[in-house]
Amino acid sequence: MNKSTNGVANSVAAHYAGSNLLAAVRQALQASGKDCNALAPADLAPVDEFHVRGREATLELAARAAPKTGEQVLDVGCGLGGSARHLAYVHGCNVYAVDLTESYVAAAHTLAQWVGLAGKVHFQCASALALPYATGSFDLVWTEHVQMNIADKRGFYGELLRVLKPGGRLAFHDVFRGTTGAPHYPVPWASHAGISHLIAPAAVQELLLHLGAQILEWEDRSEAALAWFRRVIERQHQSGPPPLGVHILMGESAARKSENMMQSLDGRSIAVVQAVIQKPRSPFR
Ligand SMILES: C[S@@+](CC[C@H](N)C(=O)[O-])C[C@H]1O[C@@H](n2cnc3c(N)ncnc32)[C@H](O)[C@@H]1O
Repeated sequence: MNKSTNGVANSVAAHYAGSNLLAAVRQALQASGKDCNALAPADLAPVDEFHVRGREATLELAARAAPKTGEQVLDVGCGLGGSARHLAYVHGCNVYAVDLTESYVAAAHTLAQWVGLAGKVHFQCASALALPYATGSFDLVWTEHVQMNIADKRGFYGELLRVLKPGGRLAFHDVFRGTTGAPHYPVPWASHAGISHLIAPAAVQELLLHLGAQILEWEDRSEAALAWFRRVIERQHQSGPPPLGVHILMGESAARKSENMMQSLDGRSIAVVQAVIQKPRSPFR
């Protein structure tokens, strides 16, 4: 990474970095009545699926991507690693996962130990723009809610496609630019516009096709996302946030960020898409 790329990466990591994350998660688990010595991976889902519609969206994306037992899978921008652990635990994949934010990678590793999955998912601190894997390493590359922090879209999608085997799939669940201007900030991935890089869905499709990839599935899930935020916010107005939730990761402005997501979806300034893309079987350009 050059100096300016490094500076941007530091600002993004600083946005996410949290201290005492694991202590906060443990306390919230206890407050939810969970036995911390007998946790299942799904017990962590309220906090380790840091994207719109949480575990529900991961199940939906997995149904589209159809991960198979023994497949080599990479989760790019894994956060606390909920999706990565799900793919290893439920689908029997051999999962690697990277993230820019050191404290998340460390927490992801410890959470895997807590649920008996240490050694089944390999977490590493790395940038999506310089993945530490050889070309053609993975059957499936998976990413949820990461590219919004990355300005270099060509570098991002090009790198994801590079590490795929010929014929391999890229599955993503992401936030894109809507049709009516900028979203309200702060949002979960950015406290200000400086680290938010939204692109129109059509521009991503064009880029992927230009990179030689084939679009197998593409579905706008903005309506489902809006309905989910309405339910979550309604519940929070009635009874406050549950002890265990992604508000632990979003800090003091968590409620504001969720309200802004709801308003931005309602006003169509953002869109949520799930897609599955295939790398061509013939040599990749
Ligand atoms: C909103 S969180 C989503 C985490 C996870 N994918 C999930 O769905 O739970 C965005 C994550 O992307 C990571 N990230 C942002 N830019 C990145 C980059 N250039 N390389 C690797 N990770 C990045 C952040 O550190 C953060 O953990």
